[in-house]
Amino acid sequence: MDSEEIERIAVLGAGNMGHGIAEVAALAGYTVTMRDINEEFVQNGYDQIEWSLDKLAEKDQISRGEADSALDRVTPVVDLSEAVGDADVVIEAVPEKMDIKKEVYREVAEHAPSEAIFATNTSSLSITELSEVSDRPEQFCGMHFFNPPVRMQLVEVISGAHTADDTLDTIEALAESMGKTPVRVRKDSPGFIVNRILVPLMNEAAWIVRGDDATVAEVDSTTKFDLGLPMGSFELADQVGIDVGYHVLEYMHQELGDAYRPCPLLAEKVEAENLGKKTGKGFYDYENGGADIPTDAGRDDVAERLLAVVANEVAGLVDADVADPDAIDQAVKLGAGFPDGPAKMADDHGLESLVETLDE
Ligand code: CAA
Repeated sequence: MDSEEIERIAVLGAGNMGHGIAEVAALAGYTVTMRDINEEFVQNGYDQIEWSLDKLAEKDQISRGEADSALDRVTPVVDLSEAVGDADVVIEAVPEKMDIKKEVYREVAEHAPSEAIFATNTSSLSITELSEVSDRPEQFCGMHFFNPPVRMQLVEVISGAHTADDTLDTIEALAESMGKTPVRVRKDSPGFIVNRILVPLMNEAAWIVRGDDATVAEVDSTTKFDLGLPMGSFELADQVGIDVGYHVLEYMHQELGDAYRPCPLLAEKVEAENLGKKTGKGFYDYENGGADIPTDAGRDDVAERLLAVVANEVAGLVDADVADPDAIDQAVKLGAGFPDGPAKMADDHGLESLVETLDE
């Protein structure tokens, strides 16, 4: 299918990412059905879209009329066949579990038109493996947005082993028509580009605190005010959803080895259902003011450890030919708002001391 033929988009999942993607698609003029498994979930997603559109209108980023018509273009539904029955593109953003996603694709394949393209917003899982349970592996690829989708510029477009070039071209053009910048990921590798950097960063932050080497405030002060990232490491974990980061880590651990073992601090938060901003509490309490990061509690040893992990992930991506340093820097700047790309940050800091830190 050509991107100009796309009119109707089905978004599966109305959570943090699903409702954000539905909003972005509606703002770009597409007719959107947003589906979740019950009325409460789907209504909650719809309310969040309404909140976000109001916020954008309040800040004059869009007009009131644009906000109203975008909301009118979104239909919340529970019935899967109704959601995908006449879709040109299905964007799936259901929980980050291989079994759940596979189950969804088996069912979607029964109801979607044969020419529809399936795009998964998975943060890390194998596109090839997911495509193989659908009935159209050639019309299947990754289309990975970043949280919050309405604010973050990047969309990673990921090919599976069976994806046709036409499919990738169409999805790239679709991302562009939504005002996003697509970056093509050369290999279907766990975490793709941006999460391969961010998720180990959040894990290392957790290990630092778990080992009593520094406090949450010190780590976040270092991340935000010394390294200059837009958010503290724990603030970011809360924004993304601690469960999301944790599931990505579990998968990376399984696929890439022990260096990615999730820190128990994250498991404890998931167990207690303190998942971050979306549940009102994570590392910070969002019912009582949210993240309040001191500007002056940064520490050089913490910066060194965080940067060493980031540099190591850059090297891993280059080594495995997933992306070159320029593509990594571009993707992380657009997807995670880093002022400088991680490869440049590592070079500026000096690789020798980072290697020593990694050895330690
Ligand atoms: N819609 C509309 N408005 C929103 C919003 C949304 N979805 N989310 C937040 N806002 C509003 C806030 O309510 C706030 O409004 P008030 O000022 O009225 O309180 C305002 O936007 C904040 O915006 P600012 O521009 O003032 O804030 P900022 O400069 O701190 O930018 C940010 C916010 C763009 C999120 C920035 O902090 C940032 O870039 N953070 C990094 C986020 C990131 O790394 N995302 C990727 C995570 S990884 C991922 O998503 C992949 C995955 O698979 C796990």
